[in-house]
Amino acid sequence: MPRYEVAEDLSEKIRDLSRARQSLIEEIEAMMFYDERSDATKDSDLKHVMEHNRDDEKEHAVLLLEWLRRHDPALDKELKETLFSKKEIKELGD
Ligand SMILES: [Fe+2]
Repeated sequence: MPRYEVAEDLSEKIRDLSRARQSLIEEIEAMMFYDERSDATKDSDLKHVMEHNRDDEKEHAVLLLEWLRRHDPALDKELKETLFSKKEIKELGD
């Protein structure tokens, strides 16, 4: 699972964070695949299936994000400061 170091050098916590982050990347990639395929197909039934599957990937991604939030205090802080804010995007961040 580690991309830059050998697993034996990493703590179980970091390995689990990497597992969750890599899985989040894959869920977002899956959204992109389904978006492109649903946009490209001329078959309305296939488009429906692709859109349904794409939206399932969003639930999977959010579950991973929630797990990460619970295990990464800095991410938790950033999410609390940013998500669902009424501020303009340009007003958010440092
Ligand atoms: Fe998924």
